[in-house]
Amino acid sequence: MNAPIGVIDSGVGGLTVLKELIHRLPNEQFIYIGDTARCPYGPRTAHEVRKFTWQMAEALQNQSIKMLVVACNTATAVALESLQKNCPFPVVGVIFPGARAAIKATTRSEICILGTTGTIRSGAYEEAIKSLSSSSSIVPFACPAFVPLVESDEYEGDFARDLVAKTLEPLKKASFDTLILGCTHYPLLQKHIEAVVGNHIKVLSSAEETAEDVMELLTYYHLHQETPSTEPHVFYTTGSIPMFKSIVTKWLEIEEPNIQSIEFK
Ligand code: DGL
Repeated sequence: MNAPIGVIDSGVGGLTVLKELIHRLPNEQFIYIGDTARCPYGPRTAHEVRKFTWQMAEALQNQSIKMLVVACNTATAVALESLQKNCPFPVVGVIFPGARAAIKATTRSEICILGTTGTIRSGAYEEAIKSLSSSSSIVPFACPAFVPLVESDEYEGDFARDLVAKTLEPLKKASFDTLILGCTHYPLLQKHIEAVVGNHIKVLSSAEETAEDVMELLTYYHLHQETPSTEPHVFYTTGSIPMFKSIVTKWLEIEEPNIQSIEFK
């Protein structure tokens, strides 16, 4: 079916999921919205995050998307159910795929979840993991400083390395063999996170398993784009276009991305 797939996040984090989607589904056109101006969602109330997420979903519905990927754990935790019930297209979140990835990878059933305050507070990962393996032991850990680091394009240098090391210090006493990057911004900090927890820990994101779910649903609903789309991917941001462009260009390796402004009230 010749229609775009929508992808949403509070900012640039969902690009980590989009990268995997573009890789696996080269024929598809994607329209991405990053609500950079109102990022981070992590410290916001569930009510606010649900409202903002719905605004992005409605904007994409007006662009006639055939599927929506909520590439934000914080939004998935509080809005997925209502989106799935009420949208006229299939909606995929990132938490269940992330939990599935962790269950597949863990050998001792000891899983650490890094996430935003909102995601950790929601308990959505624990619920998803327990539904797959009730005996798992889970270490939830909120990292509120990480998202601003990525959004300001400071995720590569020494400052990021030191902040990640300081934040994750308490985890040195915890026991786990697998760590989920339970926020789609965190894969941009993956090398710093791995340096702290050590290379004996499996560090995973939900991107690959989310892409699996998207592919399965496209097949199930006969929505695949059979030949390469002639339309370019489009990126909307509620914030600064140059900042967004810098991260899109670097992370997705798209030379001249089509980036536009969008506003929500
Ligand atoms: N990328 C979002 C997530 O996966 C971001 C969080 C935020 O805006 O705090 O939770």
